[in-house]
Amino acid sequence: AEFLHPDEQKFFDVALGLVQTAGRLVRDAFDTPTSVVMIKSSSTDLVTETDQAVEKMLIDGLSKAFPDHKFIGEESVSGGAKIEFTDAPTWIIDPIDGTTNFVHRIPMIAICVGLTIKKQLRAGIVFNPITRELYTAQTGRGAFKNGFPIHVSNNKTINTSVLCASMGIHNVKAMGGKWLEMAQSNIRKQIEAGVRGHRSFGSAAINMIMVSQGCVDAYVEYGLHAWDMAAPAVVLLEAGGVMFDPSGSDFNLMGRKILCAATKELAMEISSKLTHADFEPEA
Ligand code: IPD
Ligand code: CA
Ligand code: CA
Ligand code: CA
Repeated sequence: AEFLHPDEQKFFDVALGLVQTAGRLVRDAFDTPTSVVMIKSSSTDLVTETDQAVEKMLIDGLSKAFPDHKFIGEESVSGGAKIEFTDAPTWIIDPIDGTTNFVHRIPMIAICVGLTIKKQLRAGIVFNPITRELYTAQTGRGAFKNGFPIHVSNNKTINTSVLCASMGIHNVKAMGGKWLEMAQSNIRKQIEAGVRGHRSFGSAAINMIMVSQGCVDAYVEYGLHAWDMAAPAVVLLEAGGVMFDPSGSDFNLMGRKILCAATKELAMEISSKLTHADFEPEA
């Protein structure tokens, strides 16, 4: 596989160093919870000083190394502002995916740094600093956990699958009662279709990683943002997984929803069971 940019390896190496430093910051804050918790849109939408400090540290470090690069970071995108996604090398950053887990001291969180060039996914780093599991991938070069190759399962049917179906509670709130009904009925339909089990880890990135390493067979969620999906998407694809819009059409990084799976057959079976809707909330 060809690099789209001659310096891609350097981009990846610099980002990896910064993520490792960020990991120490998050681990210290997790072990000694002193960071102030703030409420964003509601009591189900939190941010802490650690989220903000980590995002700033990553963006400062990357922009110092690569002054012409662009950034899309969760805590730097101010409420409702339209995200500008261009052909330039763009770092898509979620400083802590799983902030509710972080605040509640559930050790399932991930620092996510993804890179796009010409709007194509090129690299993804997903690091859980608590369990010290580091997932890395570059397009065309495989997916790794702490340096060892990982692969999705080869599950093709719902009745041998463990599915991850998260409702994203603040999204359900943002969309109102109709949305709650859809989320509930979609989970009911999966149970009726004979799914072996359901899991949800409170972090979109960890949900996608669970598919990437073959523990979970598929994952559906509505309401996500590019920063939840970019980095783990590279890991998932390089681990042999597939990614679609839940309706079964092409995946769109800016489309706010995902259906990912170990195999295309499984993805299509799940897609055919679900009720679909567009996700266009105010916030
Ligand atoms: C959230 C988590 C959660 C998902 C939400 C995301 P955050 O990210 O990934 O699993 O359901 O939609 O916003 O806010 O913890 O970075
Ligand atoms: Ca958040
Ligand atoms: Ca997130
Ligand atoms: Ca976050």
